[in-house]
Amino acid sequence: MAINYTEDIQIEKSKTSKIANVDFNNLAFGRVFSDHMLVCDFRNGEWQNPSIVPYQPVTLEPSAKIFHYGQSIFEGMKAYKDSDNNVFLFRPVDNFNRLNISAKRLAMPELPEACFMNGLKELIKLEKDWIPTSEGSSLYIRPFMFATGQGFHASPANAYKFIIACAPSGSYFSGKVKVLIEEKYSRSANGGVGFAKAGGNYAGQFYPTQLANNRGYQQVIWTDDNTHEYIEEAGAMNIFVRINDTLLTVPTSDRILDGITRKSILTIAEAEGIDVEVRKIKVAELIEASENGSLKELFGAGTAAVVSPISGFGFKGKNYELPELENTYGALLKKRITDIQTNKSDDPYGWRVKVC
Ligand code: PLP
Ligand code: COI
Repeated sequence: MAINYTEDIQIEKSKTSKIANVDFNNLAFGRVFSDHMLVCDFRNGEWQNPSIVPYQPVTLEPSAKIFHYGQSIFEGMKAYKDSDNNVFLFRPVDNFNRLNISAKRLAMPELPEACFMNGLKELIKLEKDWIPTSEGSSLYIRPFMFATGQGFHASPANAYKFIIACAPSGSYFSGKVKVLIEEKYSRSANGGVGFAKAGGNYAGQFYPTQLANNRGYQQVIWTDDNTHEYIEEAGAMNIFVRINDTLLTVPTSDRILDGITRKSILTIAEAEGIDVEVRKIKVAELIEASENGSLKELFGAGTAAVVSPISGFGFKGKNYELPELENTYGALLKKRITDIQTNKSDDPYGWRVKVC
């Protein structure tokens, strides 16, 4: 019989809750996990019905292909609660679509929309009390999929697991961020998997990021793999640059994640009457703008990081500081987007999705 994912999702409630142990006014990012998770298995060529179970370890064979060939993808999204206890998601269908773009690139099975959306909404309804309301915090939601099918043959697995787990979270960064413009290592290449949210993309960033950390920078600004002359992304964020009063970001490509925050910011900035340009940006242009005083702001944008101002960058052994401005584009755009997410303002774009 065909599975249509619209029936009630089976829920096994956890016998005890961990919620009383959590200090909701003092949350780090992604360190504590809520009571339940959604689980869905792919076997015999199709996704089964998802179920909600207590948050728990996953048991896998050592021969599961995730361990050997890295078929692992994820998404990042957030649930927000307004002052009347209404719960919202932000552009969740975009995360669903991107998960399937990643799945296709890693030869993993695409998930049916009803399975993702119904499962997600049911889970968030159940975990409603886990959504923090203090300024800058939210329930971070991590949908992810990995290969459970076994074998040492280097080919796609025949079984997969999709899970959604949740973590009440505060800010991703504490304070302003200093970045190092990368001159040697690359995050991605043309024809590669840079546009996918594949776990391996992040593993490949850790070592160069550690080297940057050792030099006092929190993140790396990735440059193109071919020439290292053009900036691409800032760690787990898309990058924005303000030169004079123009807001710039680079076009998405094979190598760059099509960020939901990035595209929302572009829409909001245009509605605010900000002059916006989406084009390639040379490192040399950044340096020149910094030296002649026209570089006003640099910030990263992403679900976890929201809008994170960058206070300075390093390149070829030299440090470049950003000016301390009032009324920054970054602060304005952050306010506009979080006001929409948390139901503090109208949502003319239809991005906010009420869950309960
Ligand atoms: N770029 C990378 C590499 C990321 O990991 C993320 C985070 O998800 C982003 C950009 C921002 O994307 P989004 O705004 O959809 O979270
Ligand atoms: C997100 O912003 O949701 C991400 O997935 C980035 C992650 C590496 C924390």
